[in-house]
Amino acid sequence: MRRLVRETHLAASQLILPLFVTAGEGVRREISSMPGHCQLSIDQLVIECAEAAKLGLGGVILFGLPESKDDAASGAYAEDGIVQNALRAVKREVPDLLAVTDVCNCEYTSHGHCGKIVAGEVDNDATLQWLAKTAVSHARAGADIVAPSDMMDGRVAAIRQALDGAGFQNTPILSYAAKFASVFYGPFREAAESTPQFGDRRSYQMDPANGREAMREIELDLDEGADMIMIKPALPYLDLIWQARQRFDVPIAAYQVSGEFAMIEAAARNGWIDHDRAMMESLIAIRRAGADVIISYFAKPAARLLQ
Ligand code: PBG
Repeated sequence: MRRLVRETHLAASQLILPLFVTAGEGVRREISSMPGHCQLSIDQLVIECAEAAKLGLGGVILFGLPESKDDAASGAYAEDGIVQNALRAVKREVPDLLAVTDVCNCEYTSHGHCGKIVAGEVDNDATLQWLAKTAVSHARAGADIVAPSDMMDGRVAAIRQALDGAGFQNTPILSYAAKFASVFYGPFREAAESTPQFGDRRSYQMDPANGREAMREIELDLDEGADMIMIKPALPYLDLIWQARQRFDVPIAAYQVSGEFAMIEAAARNGWIDHDRAMMESLIAIRRAGADVIISYFAKPAARLLQ
């Protein structure tokens, strides 16, 4: 009877698995703060993607670790960059798996910021060109969806224009529209080697205290041509997922970020919480709040339980 009257459902097809791709062959470098997750070379990434497809996941989102970083983030938009090469391999070997790419610069800049530094500060407008080039290079390499996470103003319009100009009118944009300057990204920065070398991201990511501003950010991104929007992190921001659900009729994604994952893993390892129940309860709560899509490091174990 509980099953009959259940209001909210979770399916593997609603989950997107984040993956970190690095140079080399046969590399599976464990990320200490994210048990079960590794930096993967392309051959290993393809194996992981085949498993994701077999489990019926909605897709994967790729993050790249370039061999070298510079102050122009050139690895982000290089035609033979790590994500571009990875995409071609994944699309060749696992063509039916939806491949999303994170469009950002922080993994590629020597200083670890998401934008170009001019006179000690992130220059919003100068960064837009990098993002547009990166998105086009991802589309060219086979990305099904591009997802800008940098939080520069005007990036959705810049990316849309560049994609259309390059013949990728059909490549949708999933915008990290309401992305907060959150402490919960800590483990990710170990995984992606993207900790800022000075300062923090508060000049471009949002203040966790601001909910109305989040709705405004979403509205702006939709006006600029975003096809889907994201709220990030997820569990601490369920009120904003709910508000966005009431206001906007586009697909809404929520990112259950690395710190949200790590907290559950750590508590479970200590025997303080039941791992699988905490995982499923957090995911169904994010769905109940109104997210259609959840990007989660639990995507594989959750999909296994759902089978
Ligand atoms: C890149 C980016 C970050 C995350 C996704 N894309 C890190 C950041 O903004 O510092 C975080 C994801 C996570 O914590 O799982 N800008």
